[in-house]
Amino acid sequence: MMTDKPSVTIIGLGSMGQALANAYLEAGHPTTVWNRTAAKADALVARGATRAATVSDALWASDLVVLCVLDYAAVDGLLAPNADMLRGRVLVNLTNGQPEQARRTGEWATAQGAEYLDGGIMAIPSMIGTPEAFILYSGSQTAFDRYQAALEVLAVPNFVGTDAGLAALNDLALLSGMYGTIAGARHATALIGPERAAEFTTSLLIPWLQAMANVLAPSSTEREAGDIPSEESPLDMQAIALANIVEASRSEGVGEDLLAHLLTPMRDIIAAGEGDVLTDLVDAIGKEIRS
Ligand SMILES: NC(=O)c1ccc[n+]([C@@H]2O[C@H](COP(=O)([O-])OP(=O)(O)OC[C@H]3O[C@@H](n4cnc5c(N)ncnc54)[C@H](OP(=O)(O)O)[C@@H]3O)[C@@H](O)[C@H]2O)c1
Repeated sequence: MMTDKPSVTIIGLGSMGQALANAYLEAGHPTTVWNRTAAKADALVARGATRAATVSDALWASDLVVLCVLDYAAVDGLLAPNADMLRGRVLVNLTNGQPEQARRTGEWATAQGAEYLDGGIMAIPSMIGTPEAFILYSGSQTAFDRYQAALEVLAVPNFVGTDAGLAALNDLALLSGMYGTIAGARHATALIGPERAAEFTTSLLIPWLQAMANVLAPSSTEREAGDIPSEESPLDMQAIALANIVEASRSEGVGEDLLAHLLTPMRDIIAAGEGDVLTDLVDAIGKEIRS
């Protein structure tokens, strides 16, 4: 079937790569796929994808190449032996990594004659192609502009800058917020216990977290993101709550490590400020936990 949609190659067909390839097939893009374990391409080929026998063939097949593998060791291992195939390609690397790894790969790919876009996928595979999914991009603005419509097939594209490391930086920052929130939520349900965890999560925890997310909004007091306004909720009051969480977790047999480490910086902040009898309390609990 003839189409004016650009051909796309997907290299890496793990959970995420499969979702990306499926989205392109569904949107009618001629789609070439390659995966180290070739059998993972079978279902996609049955749906109309073209199987590339080698990475070199995969790079040759499309001007737009999306790479989504486990880590940068895999990225390097796949690209380095095929450097001569990169000329004229737009390489979109959606592999999770650090800003420096993205910059290094971007410089290297550009030196081979490719245009480079680094990306951070802010979605799980089942969200790909839905309006909730977004992908952060950084690197070549011209490549982004040229392929924006094709990138929209995967998720809402958000170009964050021409420094190739910026997508990874923003991705890791967002994941930091996510891991902290999810770890805190797991601690909360552990305290509540397995029988009530599901009901507690739906009726109390999610609405509470949504309400608390408003604390992150910039305010006239220009507090740091995540700070609870001290004029409304003084730090020494919060320190008591935190110390109570640590003690209650201990009594309930729930590991306190996740939250206990916050006591030390809180103690330091209190000590640096007005000074308070609570400093001693927090200090004592902190010392006991560390011993
Ligand atoms: N899954 C998610 O929820 C999610 C969300 C956002 C971002 N991401 C990112 O997407 C990327 C892929 O994640 P995934 O969920 O698809 O992981 P995955 O299911 O574990 O798949 C890993 C992929 O990397 C390939 N691979 C690993 N080592 C390789 C090597 N040395 N040489 C060639 N290929 C290699 C695997 O090939 P084989 O099949 O041969 O093992 C497979 O295609 C990661 O960077 C991840 O952080 C994932």
